[in-house]
Amino acid sequence: MTPSTAAARTGDLAESGPAALGHVVTGELDLSHRIILYLDDISVSFDGFKALNDLSLSIDAGELRCVIGPNGAGKTTMMDVITGKTRPDAGKAFFGQTLDLTRMSESEIANAGIGRKFQKPTIFADHTVFENLELAMKADRRVRRTLFAKLAGDERDRIAEMLRMIRLQDRADRLAGLLSHGEKQWLEIAVLLMQQPKLLLLDEPVAGMTDDETERTAELFLELAGKHTLVVVEHDMAFIAKIARKVTVLDEGHVIAEGPLDVVQQDPKVIEVYLGR
Ligand SMILES: Nc1ncnc2c1ncn2[C@@H]1O[C@H](COP(=O)(O)OP(=O)(O)OP(=O)(O)O)[C@@H](O)[C@H]1O
Ligand SMILES: [Mg+2]
Repeated sequence: MTPSTAAARTGDLAESGPAALGHVVTGELDLSHRIILYLDDISVSFDGFKALNDLSLSIDAGELRCVIGPNGAGKTTMMDVITGKTRPDAGKAFFGQTLDLTRMSESEIANAGIGRKFQKPTIFADHTVFENLELAMKADRRVRRTLFAKLAGDERDRIAEMLRMIRLQDRADRLAGLLSHGEKQWLEIAVLLMQQPKLLLLDEPVAGMTDDETERTAELFLELAGKHTLVVVEHDMAFIAKIARKVTVLDEGHVIAEGPLDVVQQDPKVIEVYLGR
């Protein structure tokens, strides 16, 4: 046994907790200007087709921003750029004041605190809800420890608080694979939150949910707003209406309107390309 695994098994490393940093290679997030995400004139071409065309966007820390727009507007491509999956041909992308997303790898971006929810949940179907949250917490590399280390009381509290938030307290011991579609989506969000992302991107989070599940998801997002920064892409306008603060409308890879929902809904351009159809 190496000294480090021995230490981990006796819990020494676990005690050292977040102090054992070192892997956030990209430095600390600088939110001195309140802006957590800044995109400036981003363009992305696929075989000459401009999926993003001079896209500029700025998100404040703690915002719940909704992004809407027709199919093919570039919403998912925008998330691909933010997470480093797609490199822009031109433009700037900054996380906080100093982290240049266009120069960071996908894993560096994830480690710097940008989480992304994909539509297909990546939870462990053969583990319980509780275990999924436990594994997610231990996967948080800021809290270095082994999977064998015992949970401390405050960690149990964190999981309990998360279960309450996603309203799965009664499902803690259920296998994740047996959850309903909506419950799986909430667990997936909770798994992401256990890793304490500073910015969370959610692409069509209520797709396939029942009306009741959609309603509960709206309540969850409203509870998360302020504590977290969320960027939510959705076509479900009833859902958007429930959670909307500032709304950004994309069309053909460009922002065509931005503001409160009732204002963008009256915008002739928005009505023409999206809401009026
Ligand atoms: N890897 C790729 N290769 C080629 N074209 C792509 C690629 N990814 C996206 N596109 C194109 O870029 C455009 C923007 O796509 P994107 O998926 O970002 O739209 P979207 O706003 O998310 O649409 P939807 O609401 O349907 O999800 C589309 O025309 C799409 O076909
Ligand atoms: Mg999309």
